[in-house]
Amino acid sequence: MSSFFVLQKQYEDLARDEIISISKSYDSKSSVTTEPRLVMVSSKIPWYKIASRATFARHSGIIAGTFDDIIKIDCSIPRPETFVCRTINLSSKSIGSSLERQVGAILAKRWGSKVSLSNPQVTIYLIITDSTKYLGYADSQIMPVHPKKIIKHPHELDMKLARCMVNLSQLKEGDVICDPFCGTGTILLEAESMGMHSIGIDFDKIMCKITKKNLVANGFDSRVINSGYEKIQDIMGEIDGIVTDLPYGISSRSSISPKKLLQDFISVIPKRKKLVIVYKKGLEVDGIVKAKKYEIYRHKSLTRVIAVS
Ligand SMILES: C[S@@+](CC[C@H](N)C(=O)[O-])C[C@H]1O[C@@H](n2cnc3c(N)ncnc32)[C@H](O)[C@@H]1O
Repeated sequence: MSSFFVLQKQYEDLARDEIISISKSYDSKSSVTTEPRLVMVSSKIPWYKIASRATFARHSGIIAGTFDDIIKIDCSIPRPETFVCRTINLSSKSIGSSLERQVGAILAKRWGSKVSLSNPQVTIYLIITDSTKYLGYADSQIMPVHPKKIIKHPHELDMKLARCMVNLSQLKEGDVICDPFCGTGTILLEAESMGMHSIGIDFDKIMCKITKKNLVANGFDSRVINSGYEKIQDIMGEIDGIVTDLPYGISSRSSISPKKLLQDFISVIPKRKKLVIVYKKGLEVDGIVKAKKYEIYRHKSLTRVIAVS
């Protein structure tokens, strides 16, 4: 069975690769087809499992087929008591508002079901791209639930980006993620909210305390180690992947430049470990030249780069 995921407009590459990474983490044989702002996954994994993790998917569900002529629409969808039709136009042409009403009328007659705009049992999606008209459906709208963050900090990563980075690591429930520059624990929180174990490291005692409070507020029990990032070498055998957000400036506790810190950090990470890092654009170092990269514009003096290797 194929699932569909309609992506938000911003960060389309990131959004697409996040869905692909989640699918592959559960089923390496997942096959994926894409169209602009649309990902379709054929996999053992149910759509709602992927949707509950995916940060940048706007709508998701099951693909029931394609259609050309609405009169001949072949709807192999289990008959709902109530439903609503929704058009998602991803094509370059405008589409009149009558499509969903026309399809709604045809299906209501065929099924003997009622249209309910406010509380439908099933939403029927008419997904229009430049090449194809897809028919999809879902009995609920699944969105990720982010953990609580009771103590914030101006330099924290936003939760959506942190979740997306964890997903790009292709790790899943039971796997162990390490964030060796954990700050307030955003990455650890998102990882644990998706069923992973996580270990945080930060050389700042206050940051470690903040992280612990944020974890406890969610009932999470990730380990937090107050140490320099080099500590990761002692626990490498326990971890499946590294997801981290490196400092953007020179810390008051060290005189090392962010570029040198990134270079030193990369040099202690074994190549076979899954690595997802975010750093300020311009700090590129040798060890990540071949990594897949995504740019995230924040403001005129900060563009972040996510690198996955
Ligand atoms: C960009 S912040 C991380 C923010 C974090 N992602 C969050 O959402 O709160 C980088 C963190 O790295 C820590 N740090 C800087 N140099 C370090 C080092 N050599 N070893 C370990 N931690 C370090 C800083 O204390 C800071 O909390």
